[in-house]
Amino acid sequence: MLLEGKRLVVTGVLTDGSIAWHSARIAQEQGAEIVLTGFGRGRRLTERSAQRLPNPPDVIELDINDPEHMAALAADLDARWGACDGALHAIAFAPDDALGGKFLDTPAESAATAFVTSAFSYKTLAVGLRPLMQKAGGGALVTLDFDNSQAWPAYDWMGVAKSALQAVTRYLAKDLGADNIRVNAISAGPLTTVAAKSIPGFARFDDVWGERAPLGWDTSDPTPVARMVAVMLSDWAPMTSGEVIHVDGGFHAVATGSGPVDET
Ligand SMILES: NC(=O)c1ccc[n+]([C@@H]2O[C@H](COP(=O)([O-])OP(=O)(O)OC[C@H]3O[C@@H](n4cnc5c(N)ncnc54)[C@H](O)[C@@H]3O)[C@@H](O)[C@H]2O)c1
Repeated sequence: MLLEGKRLVVTGVLTDGSIAWHSARIAQEQGAEIVLTGFGRGRRLTERSAQRLPNPPDVIELDINDPEHMAALAADLDARWGACDGALHAIAFAPDDALGGKFLDTPAESAATAFVTSAFSYKTLAVGLRPLMQKAGGGALVTLDFDNSQAWPAYDWMGVAKSALQAVTRYLAKDLGADNIRVNAISAGPLTTVAAKSIPGFARFDDVWGERAPLGWDTSDPTPVARMVAVMLSDWAPMTSGEVIHVDGGFHAVATGSGPVDET
């Protein structure tokens, strides 16, 4: 099995529709031992979702912006496993006034909140888990990106935060390579999760993907993304770091859909 013997932290499970929930499911199916993290009022939902996994895992409190939570998570993992082989970072948040077509009016504090929770937090998780991955002789970190190399309708400062997340991925890869820690991002196509539904106009992503992605794209199926998460956390990508891997049906590679050619 791909992840036999791996001890992994999976953040970002809210419901059983979360990309992280499907990643946790496949990680367990592939032999990993996992813990989930839960955040604030959503933690009860995370605990309920944990019960629907093949082997219900423990849920540890983690507000990624609270240094005491990060320290307590690391202490728990140290007592539990003595080391850690990697983690999925699936954390994002932007205030309402940073999304939905209000780009020109967004106050700096809201843009900063989106950046800190959605991009800087990858550094927080990496540094918090680093001693445990050093004890494991190395590790793998994966985050979930939405490609922002072009501007999208409504995605606004969340899109800017995702561009920052790609840069954070590269800088972490640079600084953690000496510890044999790989740091990558998966750029996923649109999926209808709780986070996605909170983005006004999300349905338009569905339309444009349906028209343009060469392989097609099912916004209700996170499994292709979750499988790539498993690959990137496994020993089968040992020399890949600082990379953004697209799991989007090939959408990013083509400029327009392959509709009928106009011969006139
Ligand atoms: N759904 C999509 O279309 C899509 C596409 C590409 C990338 N992504 C990314 O995938 C990741 C997971 O999102 P999802 O779509 O599965 O939605 P989701 O709502 O299920 O997950 C978002 C998670 O972020 C967590 N979170 C927010 N603030 C936090 C904090 N301060 N500390 C700890 N956790 C916090 C929430 O608890 C939640 O579990 C996000 O980074 C999202 O941007 C989503």
